[in-house]
Amino acid sequence: MTATAGGIAEMRRLAREWRAEARGVGLVPTMGALHDGHMSLVQAARDQSDRVVVSIFVNPIQFGPGEDYDRYPRTLEADLERCQAAGVDVVFLATAAEMYPPGYHTHVVVEDLTTGLCGAFRPGHFRGVATVVAKLLHIVAPQRAYFGEKDYQQLQVVRHLVADLNMDTEVVACPTVRESDGLALSSRNALLTPEARPRAPCLYRALCRARDLLRSGERSATALQSEMRESLERVSGVGVDYVAVVDSRTLERLDLVEGEAVALGAIRLAGVRLIDNLRISV
Ligand code: PAF
Repeated sequence: MTATAGGIAEMRRLAREWRAEARGVGLVPTMGALHDGHMSLVQAARDQSDRVVVSIFVNPIQFGPGEDYDRYPRTLEADLERCQAAGVDVVFLATAAEMYPPGYHTHVVVEDLTTGLCGAFRPGHFRGVATVVAKLLHIVAPQRAYFGEKDYQQLQVVRHLVADLNMDTEVVACPTVRESDGLALSSRNALLTPEARPRAPCLYRALCRARDLLRSGERSATALQSEMRESLERVSGVGVDYVAVVDSRTLERLDLVEGEAVALGAIRLAGVRLIDNLRISV
């Protein structure tokens, strides 16, 4: 039976007990509005760990002014049902009052990796993500924590956070789950209007176009980026925040694609921000 931990102290107590079990604890950090992408993380945790903890917390400090904190989808009842059906041991419902009580002062900044791409459009976002992930990893102290590759920059930031702060947790990356038309699953998809929804896979198509061009011999990252941007700008109602072809580890923009690279982008469609990425390699 899935329980909801009564606050940080209770969560910590449970996790301490479980950590001693043979395959330990797997943590799936989420902001709720759970979809099949989240559930694939839960499944991976289930396969590898004796106990699975899902945290649900819409973390206010990773949203900037004017962003969608207030309208971020919240579907707690359905989330708890999904967790229970998936055999989650505990859902940790953090609250802002307990995570950031009055007098809270400490934030975690992962440098360099966070200044470009989404970081350039969402100042402070990754500081909020790194801070909450560090706190969740301290509270639950899981052997493994699961993150989706859809948030590629976030994944690299978390990897660095864990390595740089010598945290005793393995970061497990799970593949992006997509709708049949290619749209990457995201809680924000629920905010798309029925008119906008059919246009939403344009980002994935642009990424596939870059991959196909690379396969047919185009190695210039600038050319791949231009092609992606032009294809997106042809779709009505789409605003392009960025498209980029980067080194898969450092996230530095490439001139030429020679090894493992990632094409990624962020667009705004009908007021909803969508991100996606695709590994491309020569
Ligand atoms: O990817 C998310 O849902 C969030 O950024 C995370 C990692 C749960 C931190 O709030």
